[in-house]
Amino acid sequence: MSETATLRFASGEEIGLPVFTGGEGEKALDIEKLRAATGMVTLDEAYLNTASCRSAITYLDGEKGILRYRGYPIEELAEKSRFVEVAYLLMYGDLPIASQLDDFSAILNGSSLIHEDMRHFFLAFPNNAHPMSLLTTMVASLSAFYPVPENPTDEEEAQIIANLMSQVRTISAFSYKKFVGEPVVYPSHKLRFVENFLNMMFSSPVSNYQLDPDIVKAIEAFLIIHADHEQNCSTSAVRIAGSSLANVYAVISAGISALWGRRHGGANQAVVTMLRNIQQSGDDGRRFLEAAKSKDSRLMGFGHRIYKTHDPRALIMKKLCHRILGKPGMSDPMFDIAMRLEEAALSDDYFLSRNLYPNVDFYSGLILKAAGIPFDMFTVLFAIGRTPGWLAHWREMRHDANNRIARPRQIYTGPAERFYVPVSQREKHSVGVMRRSHTKALPVAPRDLISSSMDCG
Ligand code: CMC
Repeated sequence: MSETATLRFASGEEIGLPVFTGGEGEKALDIEKLRAATGMVTLDEAYLNTASCRSAITYLDGEKGILRYRGYPIEELAEKSRFVEVAYLLMYGDLPIASQLDDFSAILNGSSLIHEDMRHFFLAFPNNAHPMSLLTTMVASLSAFYPVPENPTDEEEAQIIANLMSQVRTISAFSYKKFVGEPVVYPSHKLRFVENFLNMMFSSPVSNYQLDPDIVKAIEAFLIIHADHEQNCSTSAVRIAGSSLANVYAVISAGISALWGRRHGGANQAVVTMLRNIQQSGDDGRRFLEAAKSKDSRLMGFGHRIYKTHDPRALIMKKLCHRILGKPGMSDPMFDIAMRLEEAALSDDYFLSRNLYPNVDFYSGLILKAAGIPFDMFTVLFAIGRTPGWLAHWREMRHDANNRIARPRQIYTGPAERFYVPVSQREKHSVGVMRRSHTKALPVAPRDLISSSMDCG
């Protein structure tokens, strides 16, 4: 018999709610019929306790620090697998046999060029544009060049997936070339996915990039551990945008935009900035810990909505730091600073009592730095890694016969009904005045206008 939970109100009224049990025994109250039965909705701001879907892709236990893709522990995949193989696993549910992996690699290789006309778009961006701004724009633009049928067949869907995985990588490398003012390097069919990316980034007409197998392996591991993380902010953005049946290129672009922020994918840049500031200040990090404790700032790369113990990805990255930065000539004083900071935080009651541990971003920037990846490309690398995860969720959703448009409710807290007053009869209200929209910022804005425009956002 299926399990139910009883919700009892002070009035004595009761209703039964079905309990759904997931594959690992986790339980959820199914509240779909709650409003119809009681007139009530649930209020869960920022989704602290809401499962937004059922998914068979990734399992995460934040209390025990477990992360598995399609049942495989992340530690094993990061150590033994390749990014392309993991992408296949996420997308199609099982590790590929040799011929499936060959076919998948071939379609990725065959889809790696972007339409040549798109190269001109790069010219219109300022030279110092952040590569994430190019990436999100270019990925949305792909929809103009690669029209998506309303109901793609399996073959068309495989092509869309290959286009996005391969072209996100090509666009990323081209964005970097734009940033440094060098000619682009085209992808090569002779190179594997990660090697191809490094070659597009670092080769130039005057010098060939020498691939270092340890660096290739480190970037593979970086991409694998970032490949999926169930309903995180950017994946939820992808699912919400995708639920409207928007074009998949626009959908992935929505994910990239959500990833950009420093609470999410942007944290890897923020951590290295913090470590650099500690290094330059000569402080042992205490000042930064105190600032985080007094809420003046946050200790970047620490804390996680789901993990209440060590993030398993942080442990993998730390181990990798030991391996890469322990090589002759590769040491980085920032790694020592990071380890000291971690030790100090994990012996401080503020962090322990709130279960704040290093997350994936705490050590990942140091791996990218060691690989020669420029600072502004850190979040772009996260996006390349997360693309198969976003696509796997988009694919899972479109093959779910019950999928519907995502449309949360809200609890309204604004004014009660009121009547329109002509402008000549209105009195100044306290909140402020909206600045009229100008294409250019006002050269000198009156004080009250500046503060009120900031309030109005
Ligand atoms: N430094 C100092 N205090 C913190 C931190 C931190 N990094 N993170 C959380 N807290 C405190 C917070 O002030 C609050 O304290 P109190 O109970 O006294 O009000 C408590 O811990 C709970 O924090 P929260 O903001 O309610 O937690 P959240 O689940 O909403 O936020 C988070 C999660 C990851 C956004 C947050 O921990 C954070 O801002 N961390 C730093 C940014 C970062 O490293 N982001 C990468 C996340 S992992 C990769 C990814 O998702 O892309």
